[in-house]
Amino acid sequence: MRLPEKFLDEVIARNDIVDVVSEYVHLTPQGANYFGLCPFHSEKTPSFSVSRSKQIYHCFGCSKGGGVISFVMDVENITFLEAVEKLAARVGLQMPHVEYDPKDRRRPRLLELLRVAARFYHETLYRERDGAAAREYLDGRRITKQTATRFGLGAAPDDWTALTRHLSDMGYTGNEMVDAGVAVHGKNGSVYDRFRRRLMLPVIDQRGRVVGFGGRILGDGEPKYLNSPETMVFSKRRLLYGLNLAKNTKRKEFILCEGNIDVITLHQAGFDSAVATMGTALTKEQVQMIARYTSELVICYDNDEAGKKATERAVETLGDSGLQVRILQLPRRLVDGVPVKTDPDDFIKLFGADEFEKRLKGSGSPAEYKLNELFRRFNLNTDDQRVEYLKEAVRIVAGLQSAVEREVYAGRVAESAGVSIQAVESEVQRARKRVEGAKKKKRDTEVLRVEEQRQPKDRALRYANMRSASAEEGIICLLMEDPSLVPYASEKLKPEDFSSEFLAKVYALILEKDEALEYIPPAAVLARLEPGESEHLSKLLQSPAPARGKKAADDYIDVIVQEKLIRAGDLNALAAKYRQTKG
Ligand code: CTP
Ligand code: MN
Repeated sequence: MRLPEKFLDEVIARNDIVDVVSEYVHLTPQGANYFGLCPFHSEKTPSFSVSRSKQIYHCFGCSKGGGVISFVMDVENITFLEAVEKLAARVGLQMPHVEYDPKDRRRPRLLELLRVAARFYHETLYRERDGAAAREYLDGRRITKQTATRFGLGAAPDDWTALTRHLSDMGYTGNEMVDAGVAVHGKNGSVYDRFRRRLMLPVIDQRGRVVGFGGRILGDGEPKYLNSPETMVFSKRRLLYGLNLAKNTKRKEFILCEGNIDVITLHQAGFDSAVATMGTALTKEQVQMIARYTSELVICYDNDEAGKKATERAVETLGDSGLQVRILQLPRRLVDGVPVKTDPDDFIKLFGADEFEKRLKGSGSPAEYKLNELFRRFNLNTDDQRVEYLKEAVRIVAGLQSAVEREVYAGRVAESAGVSIQAVESEVQRARKRVEGAKKKKRDTEVLRVEEQRQPKDRALRYANMRSASAEEGIICLLMEDPSLVPYASEKLKPEDFSSEFLAKVYALILEKDEALEYIPPAAVLARLEPGESEHLSKLLQSPAPARGKKAADDYIDVIVQEKLIRAGDLNALAAKYRQTKG
């Protein structure tokens, strides 16, 4: 698929980036740019900047950046083509007829197939015979019909080919069914249903599209859950079960739990901001997704050992996301003297929604949670255990950012271990000095790595020759600001002279541009680059070109050509070049 360049330029020209971004982010002018809170990561002070003159954005916090098209792609989580369509519609431009590459058609076709499959399972749920077992299972778990409808729940019949037959009647091929993750290849080219005799939970993305399924066994057995495999449209690390509904919540905080049924039960009980990862650890991508809708997150994982470990890992992952995190720890439950796992679903059934609400309100910070856990692990009646406990507790307290928090928790630790608060506080001070020392060392090594910081974030674009790449970046910035130099530069410098393939591509794009322009709109170039490329270029263009004029162009070109000769091992030419420059 290729859109005509002219059309793309028109879409970009008519959609002013400041206007478009303002539809998502509150922007305030500051100097030459506009600033606001970054929509791609959670933050309290604005580090997201938009330039009207350059028509680009860049976040100094998470380093996302690009032009108006990439902004819409990222903020709406849609493809390039979808973003162009949206922006064209925004300004009343008619999309040109484009020849679709068969590859681009596959995605919408899989999504369509998955929607058909979800409808099939949902209808099966209410079929007399095929849905009976699943309906009974839902009753047993006290999931109402209304809830089942809201989540689009369904039933996979006890049949090896029920869905595949239906899909094939609807015109889908066996390969498409396998690609969508709902069927499996059998013998001699045949396919059969992946899900049989299971309660079906469609996984719906932020935009309301069915992208895959979780299937729970009806009763006991293995595996308890069978999920869609990773497909073109189903990537567990970028999905959260329930987010399609949770994103419309009126509640202030989101609730993160482990299981899909937990999400369903919580929503049914009025906690409609619950989401879950699907059997995997929380990822950075998921944190970003959550941060787009809320600034407060309560983690409520199962209260078994696995749940505790997962909680600590999630807290780590949430690290500097800016989200305010709290932890709701479900009470320990003993059955016949043996501790049994409790998850939010069990809790609501045992104690009710009001009790859950109370605990939600009373949930504490990660530090409080960690200290509670620690307190439980040690027997504070013996001296050596008390010393161990204090050591670990001090580490936790010393890691806290705010002095007030440190003081409060130091007091609690002192009390719980029966020692003076002064003793704990002085230990905390010492621990902090160690932490600060380590931090400073880290900062120092970072300074040594400025060169590293100039590298594109996308590792595939890394510069092999930093001296040349810097000059290449320089001439690109210069030409974009002053295209009248393009004819001059193009005579002395060819894209092949560049050391970086990526920068050569940018340079080639610039050479194609009309030098009669006053400056080259960065968005016009950015739209033709890969995401990692446009991210790096927009970062470069965010600051004014460091040098101007023909002399600057000459300096850059000299460096690039010299480096090229060195790479080629052409020392004679290099010597001649030096003489020429000197003379
Ligand atoms: N899970 C999975 N595969 C498994 C087990 C679990 O993908 N074999 C995922 C499911 O998304 C499940 C979540 O991990 O919802 C939590 O699993 P678990 O705590 O074992 O189950 P529960 O959520 O308690 O499931 P249920 O209440 O249905 O028994
Ligand atoms: Mn459960």
